[in-house]
Amino acid sequence: MDFIAKRLEKIKPSATLALAAKAAELKAQGRDVIGLAVGEPDFDTPDHIKAAAKKAMDEGKTKYTPVPGTPELRKAVAEKFKRENHLTYTPDQVIVGTGGKQVLYNAFMATLNPGDEVVIAAPYWLSYPEMVMLCEGKPVIVPTTPESGFKMSPASLEKAITPNTKWVVINSPSNPTGAAYTAAELKALGEVLKKNPHVWVLTDDIYEHLVYDKFKFSTIAEVVPELFNRTLTVNGVSKAYAMTGWRIGYAAGPTDLIKAMSKVQGQSTSNASSISQAAAVAALNGDQKFLDEWRDKFQERRDLVVSLLNKADGLKCTAPEGAFYVFASCEGVIGKTTPEGKVIQTDTDFATYLLEKHDVVVVQGVEFGLSPYFRVSYALSKETLTKACERIQKACRELVDTRQPQVKKSGGMKP
Ligand SMILES: Cc1ncc(COP(=O)(O)O)c(C=O)c1O
Repeated sequence: MDFIAKRLEKIKPSATLALAAKAAELKAQGRDVIGLAVGEPDFDTPDHIKAAAKKAMDEGKTKYTPVPGTPELRKAVAEKFKRENHLTYTPDQVIVGTGGKQVLYNAFMATLNPGDEVVIAAPYWLSYPEMVMLCEGKPVIVPTTPESGFKMSPASLEKAITPNTKWVVINSPSNPTGAAYTAAELKALGEVLKKNPHVWVLTDDIYEHLVYDKFKFSTIAEVVPELFNRTLTVNGVSKAYAMTGWRIGYAAGPTDLIKAMSKVQGQSTSNASSISQAAAVAALNGDQKFLDEWRDKFQERRDLVVSLLNKADGLKCTAPEGAFYVFASCEGVIGKTTPEGKVIQTDTDFATYLLEKHDVVVVQGVEFGLSPYFRVSYALSKETLTKACERIQKACRELVDTRQPQVKKSGGMKP
């Protein structure tokens, strides 16, 4: 329809939100569907954070705030960067937005001219390329492999950079793979970037606190200080503090960039919710001990899911360093046939089969730019995860290997 802008023609709706809606629809029909598609912690927002929000309401902090955030929150963010990442930002180098998502969008909107390139490693969080295209930029995708731990190598980064490159996006730990870059790996990427002074770095550290096996989180402006003046460090409270619905994200970077992002936000949403900003101050300034408990729980869940998925015929995955996702290969089921006689040709076919016949929602790898894979979110109880993985194992067992008609799978074929 001509009325809708041309720029939307290439844009896909969010697959994860669509899958969550499909799962909700099946649940409403009475099906016992387990959703492993959503990207949010199952924990409740801690009480001291909720109390800060209630207090803000009672004190009448219910009005507009400055566009880039309240002075209290910008200060708390600057202090967080100093305390946890050894980065020195002044509060006016900080912007607060309605979720990390808006902050990222502001950054692309404020900087991309038509045709400007943004380097993104695949598998990627599916919003990056879509946002870049919405802002009329060009995503340049750098494929990675399981052998490299789904991480971009300095050589592949170097190859992707052209005179039109404006940004390289680093997302560590990553959605969807959970891969996280070590300080040494970031330094190696930094060497390439030092040779390319026209390229800026957008680092999305939203899963910073979710790293396992004593992995030490680092962010690029910390380990490559030469890049500090052309790095935007993005983070938020959604994933770390179980605050997805509060919609608070933030970023810090050079003052002119922050001002430009603030201009975009000032003409779109103005400030993030005043109540949520007060809650975020409590999250950042308050007790952080519960994060260790949550991290231990997530690590147990990750290990459980990795071990159960590796027991499923045709599936393979490794334990990632962070986030709350496992990105599993389903190459071993491609070409097999369902009991209903449908050949699984793609990861989308596999995800559809899991949803329609086994009541489990996963997200197909093609949405994140790498097939044949699927993403499982393990932000659920161990009981639920066990039940879901057992369903996936059963689904795999029931597939018939028509690629080799003689091979009969145990317990597989229906009479
Ligand atoms: C990699 C990554 N960045 C940013 C976000 C945005 O989070 P929010 O807008 O809830 O702060 C998400 C959410 O799924 C994400 O996975």
